[in-house]
Amino acid sequence: MQTHDTLASLRAQLRQWRREGASVGFVPTMGNLHAGHFALVELARKHADKVVASIFVNPTQFGPNEDYALYPRTPQRDIDALAAHKCDALFLPDVEQMYPFGTMGCVQMHVPGITDILCGAHRPGHFNGVAQVVARLFNMVQPDLAVFGRKDYQQLQVVRYMAREMSFPVEIIPAPTLREPDGLAMSSRNQYLQGDQRQTATHIHRTLLFMRDAARQGLPVRGIEDEALSRLEAAGFDVDYVEVRRADLSRPRSPDEPGLLALVAARLGRTRLIDNLAFDDA
Ligand code: PAJ
Repeated sequence: MQTHDTLASLRAQLRQWRREGASVGFVPTMGNLHAGHFALVELARKHADKVVASIFVNPTQFGPNEDYALYPRTPQRDIDALAAHKCDALFLPDVEQMYPFGTMGCVQMHVPGITDILCGAHRPGHFNGVAQVVARLFNMVQPDLAVFGRKDYQQLQVVRYMAREMSFPVEIIPAPTLREPDGLAMSSRNQYLQGDQRQTATHIHRTLLFMRDAARQGLPVRGIEDEALSRLEAAGFDVDYVEVRRADLSRPRSPDEPGLLALVAARLGRTRLIDNLAFDDA
């Protein structure tokens, strides 16, 4: 696997692949990689001749009181693991490569509507930062396709919308959520959980399963959400939201519409966890 710290070196590699007629799949990450990320690399390989991953902890998607400085950074371990998963190239830009004119005065992105709800309502500016860095990464890597996890469902929708609206010539491929054996969605932030919090965290997935089953039984959407909120609060969570939405994240009229999903963001101490479950899944 080739590791590129600079855009010039990445582009030289990409030019060579393009000359060979190879298609390029892309997996953007913030590092501290786990099995969920590696599954994205493997999915990209199924669709493309060459796979490029990136690791960049993007300052513009963290709020002032969020965990940017503390976000776990494990570059050497990530490099070894990506090489073992037969990733073809890794792009590891620093903040100066990504934001040559700084993070304040640079070109901004704003995807309206979809970023005002759910996580967008609780993390103002977060999805602007995501859209900004993903747009830059797409321009840098110029992939044929890019893989994003359903774990961050709203992010996936923001990226899909942005790619379509801005005519990025990239196909967005969604990947299923990888979970621990007890149902907790894998996340770099799980390692912040201390003591009993790790066990308590399993209530998130259990609550999502409850919501799916309740919808299948035809309980009203508001009733399902209220009950889910009480269950999470009783387990010790500070809940940002727990909601049933349509696949496009609009509000459903009834629990038996096809394509619904439940989404949750909840905090245990300082750790914010997000997850979601599509009701059509087995
Ligand atoms: P990060 O949190 O590192 O996630 C990188 C990719 O891995 C995202 O597409 C995310 O949805 C996916 N992912 C994370 N946990 C997963 C799991 N348990 N199962 C399946 N996929 C999972 O998301 C970001 O980084 C950043 O916002 C980024 C898109 C890189 C922009 O900075």
